[in-house]
Amino acid sequence: MGPPGAGKGTQAQFICREHNIPQISTGDMLRNAIAEGTTLGLRAKAIMERGELVSDDVILELVRERLRQPDCVAGCLFDGFPRTVGQADGMRELDISVDVVVELQISDSLIIRRISGRRVHEASGRVYHIEFNPPKVDNVDDVTWQPLVQRHDDSETVVRARVEVYREQTAPLIEYYKRSGVKYYEIDGEATVNEIRQNISDLLKTADT
Ligand code: AP5
Repeated sequence: MGPPGAGKGTQAQFICREHNIPQISTGDMLRNAIAEGTTLGLRAKAIMERGELVSDDVILELVRERLRQPDCVAGCLFDGFPRTVGQADGMRELDISVDVVVELQISDSLIIRRISGRRVHEASGRVYHIEFNPPKVDNVDDVTWQPLVQRHDDSETVVRARVEVYREQTAPLIEYYKRSGVKYYEIDGEATVNEIRQNISDLLKTADT
């Protein structure tokens, strides 16, 4: 969990590699649907470009379908899901149990700096930052050598709307999960990428024991 730019996608990739589990990013799934021009993608595009949330029903159906795939048998990491109390309740109804919640905490002022410098490799979802986490070669993905792009919803106005939506609709999940008894970890999201990576890795080792 964490607001836009907190580093969820960046850290999710490390955790998934270390634990050999798939990353289920509802944001990436929606962006793929837009790129493929599906009906869902067409509907989601306008909502995402306003910085609002796609409806709980649509998101829960996407996740339910994704979890049917065999790579999820040993567990998975959710990145940017659930995002509302309705989605968290929906997960319970689908018998999806949560073992650990990691919340990345970051101030509003840093969010804008993080998002404005973000560049992504669209096909894989790999994330870079022109200042904090640059690719080996400017504007080119390290793995495929394809060009990097800026997300359509990364303008300052839309980011401010996304932060507002986070505070109103997603932040209530903090208390929801703290009260639920799952292992809940608050991480300083303003540390360096590597420091956060190490902190999460250490915490997840203790969570396993
Ligand atoms: P989504 O794609 O999930 O976006 P988000 O939650 O707004 O989060 P971001 O991807 O912007 O940030 P992040 O925390 O992953 O940060 P990142 O690692 O990239 O959702 C997009 C939209 O889809 C939503 O607005 C909504 O419309 C819809 N949607 C998605 N899921 C939904 C759901 N469940 N329900 C309803 N609607 C849904 O890092 C940001 C930048 O900072 C990068 O450039 C990175 O390189 C850099 N960086 C990362 N960590 C550090 C660090 N420690 N120090 C310096 N730089 C860093």
